[in-house]
Amino acid sequence: MERAIKQRRTIRVYDPQVLHLDQLSQLLWSAQGITGRNGFKRAAPSAGALYPMDVYTVVGQDSVEQIEAGVYHYESKGHMLSQVTKQDLRDRFARAALLQMWMAKAPVNLVITAEYSRVTGKYGKRGVRYALIEAGHIGQNLFLQAEALGLKAGIVGAFHDKELVEIMKLPRSHEPLLVMPIGYAV
Ligand SMILES: Cc1cc2nc3c(=O)[nH]c(=O)nc-3n(C[C@H](O)[C@H](O)[C@H](O)COP(=O)(O)O)c2cc1C
Repeated sequence: MERAIKQRRTIRVYDPQVLHLDQLSQLLWSAQGITGRNGFKRAAPSAGALYPMDVYTVVGQDSVEQIEAGVYHYESKGHMLSQVTKQDLRDRFARAALLQMWMAKAPVNLVITAEYSRVTGKYGKRGVRYALIEAGHIGQNLFLQAEALGLKAGIVGAFHDKELVEIMKLPRSHEPLLVMPIGYAV
């Protein structure tokens, strides 16, 4: 654990090496996997256990074994991916992130979104703060899980929200907060 914390760095140059499906599976689990015995508590804490966050992954062509290029939604219940769109969208995606084209070289970009209504119903405006805090927990889980798998991650907050939503065909209520490119370092 200490090694993962010490070695964690935002990486902006990735090797095109294909990821194993198990690696992507483990990353997604660390972000929002079910970890509680009763089948609903997740890997990252959540105010009131309301879980306002979703995780999507943008997968490139020939980037993850057994998975075609596209956008996928991670279903915590069942630990499954459901496909949202087909096509390698990494280039358009990186353009929407203020031309940070290095992101397009990573085999996967994980996108953390918030649906605030799930938490503001109980906590009012403060629920937005809680969701943002939760995004930070998920991001750090991903950083440390990537390290433990011998992978490297980056973190990107600079992007045009609307463009990202359109490219990924996200539901309007799912607001993207963070993008994490992940792969092997060069
Ligand atoms: C909320 C947030 C947004 C960030 N956005 C970007 C970004 O858009 N592009 C980028 O290259 N780095 C981004 N970073 C990474 C920071 O530049 C990086 O964390 C910082 O330089 C410290 O380096 P380290 O992560 O390697 O320790 C972001 C980091 C955070 C926490």
